[in-house]
Amino acid sequence: MDIPAKTQVAIIGGGVAGLMLSHLLYVEGIECVILERQSRAYAESRIRAGVLENGTVNLLRRVGVSERMDRQGLRHEGFALMDDGEALRIPLHDLVDTDVMVYGQTEITIDLMDACAARQIPLVFEAKDVAIHDIDSKHPFVTYVKDGQSHRLDCSYVAGCDGAHGVSRATLPEASAHVIEKVYPFGWLGILSDVPPMDEELIYSNHERGFALASQRSKTRSRYYIQCDAGEKIDDWSDDRIWEELEIRLGDPGRQRITRGPALEKSIAPLRSSVCEKMQHGRLFIAGDAAHIVPPTGAKGLNLAASDVSYLADALIAQIKHGDESGLNGYTRRALDRIWKAERFSWSMTQLTHRFPQMSIFDRKMQKADLNYIRTSEAAQRSIAENYIGLPY
Ligand code: FAD
Ligand code: PHB
Repeated sequence: MDIPAKTQVAIIGGGVAGLMLSHLLYVEGIECVILERQSRAYAESRIRAGVLENGTVNLLRRVGVSERMDRQGLRHEGFALMDDGEALRIPLHDLVDTDVMVYGQTEITIDLMDACAARQIPLVFEAKDVAIHDIDSKHPFVTYVKDGQSHRLDCSYVAGCDGAHGVSRATLPEASAHVIEKVYPFGWLGILSDVPPMDEELIYSNHERGFALASQRSKTRSRYYIQCDAGEKIDDWSDDRIWEELEIRLGDPGRQRITRGPALEKSIAPLRSSVCEKMQHGRLFIAGDAAHIVPPTGAKGLNLAASDVSYLADALIAQIKHGDESGLNGYTRRALDRIWKAERFSWSMTQLTHRFPQMSIFDRKMQKADLNYIRTSEAAQRSIAENYIGLPY
């Protein structure tokens, strides 16, 4: 497909945020071009999120890209919080009458990229040296290099969906002065393996050796995580060492039920909370990981990327189709309200389930008391459930 030199919305980044935005605009007849730095093969091999809120599921249905998810995704009506081997199930469905969908981010990305090809939404892979220009004017433009050739893309608006290390946030004037951040003193080591999951539902376990999570991608593919030191090297973790640690941290039942297998992928991710409270300037708007990072404990990152671009699409559609600027003017305020609530939930789940260095007896007592309160209070469980399934937008 020939890549146009002019479009209505230039989207930087072809992750979930950028791809989802392109389809939200497409169904309203608005043109866009997506510029993605990596190759398609790279995007398809990246293992990230696994739990979708209802809002994300509904957006995929709204843009008509839900067929495979509806067929292969697993509906989960609850999950367990485990502490020192004792499990407490949070029955999402009983508490808030809805559930979550387990379907990998990698699969969503593939589905959205395939739909771009079918709908002829221009998606440029391996777009290098992307630079954004003239965002203060009515005629911004983006330059990039593809196959050694320089290109210019004229547009009316630029959507920065290029993640935490992209060019968009760096282009927003003085954005770094508006970043609020907390770094956690540990990371998550993840392993993906084609073995049946240890349980039908997810288990978040607080153990004296550190946090562990039993997750999954399908009935035959498991995803597990363990808390590790921030500076650890993945090469120091053989598959056997990871499985042994998981068996210990997921308690006695784990010893019997975890099925070991070779790792398809393993990696270490640091944990941090970060919000850039400046999400727009002139005609540039940022969304998803470009604007914020959450620790994965609340399963919120991908879902926040989806709600951001839902707000941004509403605002762009109102402006482009009806000349109504109010949505774009209020984009940051509207998005930040939901972002901070998701940051709070992700932080509180991290506080509840992880062992922190230099944790005092008092700190541990607080975790225990928190969990005992949750165990005995339906109101507390309902609060966790309504945040886990996703606050409305
Ligand atoms: P990204 O997915 O990072 O996409 C950005 C894209 O922009 C990338 O494709 C990148 O190549 C491209 N790009 C970057 N720079 C440039 C440039 N200069 N020019 C052009 N393109 C560029 N979230 C959940 O909701 N639930 C979960 O269960 C969950 N689990 C997670 C587990 C782990 C281990 C990790 C690491 C994350 C998890 N997340 C989860 C978070 C989630 O994966 C991210 O929040 C999500 O990927 C954000 O989507 P995005 O499109 O904003 O950014
Ligand atoms: C995952 O399956 O990758 C996953 C699930 C739940 C989380 C984080 C990650 O909270």
